[in-house]
Amino acid sequence: MLNRQVEKYSVSELQAGMIVAELMTSEDGKAILGAGTVLTDNRIRLLQQWGVDRVSVLLPQSRPETAQETPWSFDREAFNAYYKDTVDLVKTAFKSISLFREVPVARMQELANEKIDPLVDAPGVMNHLLMIRHTDDYTFEHSVNVAVLSGVIGKWMGLKGQNLRDLIFAGLMHDIGKSQVPPEILNKPGKLSAEEMDIMKRHTIQGYYLLKEVPRTPLVIMWSVLQHHERMDGSGYPLHLRGSNIHEFARIISVADVYDAMTSDRVYRRRTTPYHVVEALFRQMFNVLDPVVCSKFLYHVKDFMTGNIVMLSDGRQAEIVHPGAFPAGLPLVKTTDGQFINLEQKRDITIYGLISA
Ligand SMILES: [Fe+2]
Repeated sequence: MLNRQVEKYSVSELQAGMIVAELMTSEDGKAILGAGTVLTDNRIRLLQQWGVDRVSVLLPQSRPETAQETPWSFDREAFNAYYKDTVDLVKTAFKSISLFREVPVARMQELANEKIDPLVDAPGVMNHLLMIRHTDDYTFEHSVNVAVLSGVIGKWMGLKGQNLRDLIFAGLMHDIGKSQVPPEILNKPGKLSAEEMDIMKRHTIQGYYLLKEVPRTPLVIMWSVLQHHERMDGSGYPLHLRGSNIHEFARIISVADVYDAMTSDRVYRRRTTPYHVVEALFRQMFNVLDPVVCSKFLYHVKDFMTGNIVMLSDGRQAEIVHPGAFPAGLPLVKTTDGQFINLEQKRDITIYGLISA
């Protein structure tokens, strides 16, 4: 459940965007809408057709910039429903951009502020994201994930207020140029040819020019979109920028982008566990990724690992008891038969996969 105040509304008073507070069932006990479902015009129409009288709705939360602010809390079911609705909204926005070549910047900013900012504050969000079952909507899910992860990293780096909101918005928009990449290349289930890769790489420049056409688009958003594939040693694209010539937001988004791409299932590649991603980020933090951003990320991301259930390479299940020494130490685990194994010392056993987070 979401920890916010609840009020009952008659169906005629409902508006799209309101969030259902508790599971709604039909007269014969079947679930109609789950807690956390975001109402759409279509769902409100269906409620009218089903003869539903009143619906419990979460009251909007005023979000003052104070340290005492209580973050939203989602259980897994509510998170998944809320997440899916958010991805659907991003998908609709991307579709309209590829059709009309016009970015609804104000609408997407609103989406970032109202739907994604709360996810950044939600306890356990890193684990919730790991347990999302990925669908064909990879580009849209990835945009939401990178927005949330950039916000989480930004907070760990001490960003707040409008600065943090801009970073989250930049994360949401970072791959907006992919709306211009032909779907057969974007969704190709396999390695891209050199020519296809060149077309794919253009999404940074295409995103920048799409945003440039919209008056008053904040410059930081345009720079983030253009630079999120630049790398600290100049090996990135499109301009081969180096070090601090790359905007700080783009350096944060790069880490969020790499982490999410590695921990997501793709048609052609099984996802990597977060423990292996930690090792990969550790290897990349001294040449291609920003070392300050990476060290903040590696320090904090380990907090989320304790309690995760994993499959070991010897076939046993185990719980992470301690995530391992910062920055890239391996975890201490406890198997279901009660044995403690320090994976840092016992190198012949490895973590094969994540079962639950
Ligand atoms: Fe990208």
